[in-house]
Amino acid sequence: MKNVTLIPGDGIGPEISQSVQKIISAAGVEINWDVQSAGADVAQKEGTPLPQRVIDSIKKNKVALKAPVTTPIGKGFRSVNVALRKELDLYANIRPCKNIDGIKTPFDGVNLVVVRENTEDLYAGIERQIDADTAESIKIITRKASLRIAKYAFDYAKNNNRKTVHAVTKANICKLTDGLFLECAREIAQQYPDIEYKEILVDNLCMQLVQNPQKFDVLVLPNLYGDIVSDLTAGLIGGLGVAQGANIGEDCAVFEPVHGSAPDIKGQNKANPTALLLCAINMLRHIGETAGADRIEKALYSVLAQGRVLTGDLGGSASTDEFTDEIIKQL
Ligand code: NAI
Repeated sequence: MKNVTLIPGDGIGPEISQSVQKIISAAGVEINWDVQSAGADVAQKEGTPLPQRVIDSIKKNKVALKAPVTTPIGKGFRSVNVALRKELDLYANIRPCKNIDGIKTPFDGVNLVVVRENTEDLYAGIERQIDADTAESIKIITRKASLRIAKYAFDYAKNNNRKTVHAVTKANICKLTDGLFLECAREIAQQYPDIEYKEILVDNLCMQLVQNPQKFDVLVLPNLYGDIVSDLTAGLIGGLGVAQGANIGEDCAVFEPVHGSAPDIKGQNKANPTALLLCAINMLRHIGETAGADRIEKALYSVLAQGRVLTGDLGGSASTDEFTDEIIKQL
């Protein structure tokens, strides 16, 4: 039996985690879940929202499924998500965006992947108050991290039969930082002559993504642009409830949805577990449980395509439990 760390998170996290555990178990895949709590409640009890035991568990198991954790805005502790990515050096954040049958969106034929650098940029958290009316944040871009993420994007393209990689920056304004990111992407691109390499400014990309998203394939971006653009691309395929993600490092992988802890619908049995389930399917493939992953994926896509039992975010009226039971029925 495989050991997998599970971080149930907070907000809707525990509800959708339970749904996913139930579905995986019903599919006959045996996982030994090493459940590790993190977040605001933990901070009160243990003095930190991300205790060392959570990191140790992931380092030991090498793989984790993580539901969202609330981050206080403008004050309080540093994001658990950012800290975890940094601590485990999960340098690549991968967010595939592909249309799902049964989920109506303004566009058909979207099939792109956002590859986001996950460890630096403005997320390094180097900020200071200069005086009462001025604050400063430092954007860090290094050659090492930029080369590494560019290589990941091109390898991903090569291994997944993708044709084009766009490097996305604002190098016309951030000439040194984004300029360095571009320089690294160009260097790596030369090693992959079979993959087309293109560059685009992030503002132009946003405009084109909401006009003609089908023309994009693999996007590689520094951290902040990657964060924003991947929410936009999640919107293209039906919203946060169906947008999956993975954080990959040399040693460990943490699979987590794009969405947050949705405190507005917490505890109401309304949350859509699809995004976390898609992450879990990827996680199962990562640990070699391919047959179980395929079975769950088929059942999930079938329920979504039929459109009879859908959660509120997808225009339906089913509860989290009803949606979960329907997937289990179709396994
Ligand atoms: P959010 O993603 O939690 O919610 C945005 C909107 O989408 C809300 O209306 C919510 O109800 C809806 N939504 C999100 N996931 C859904 C789901 N699975 N099913 C149905 N509806 C869903 O974003 P928000 O409100 O900006 O952030 C809330 C908290 O989550 C913040 O503390 C934020 O820092 C944290 N967060 C955590 C992340 C993580 O743990 N990886 C990622 C993003 C945000």
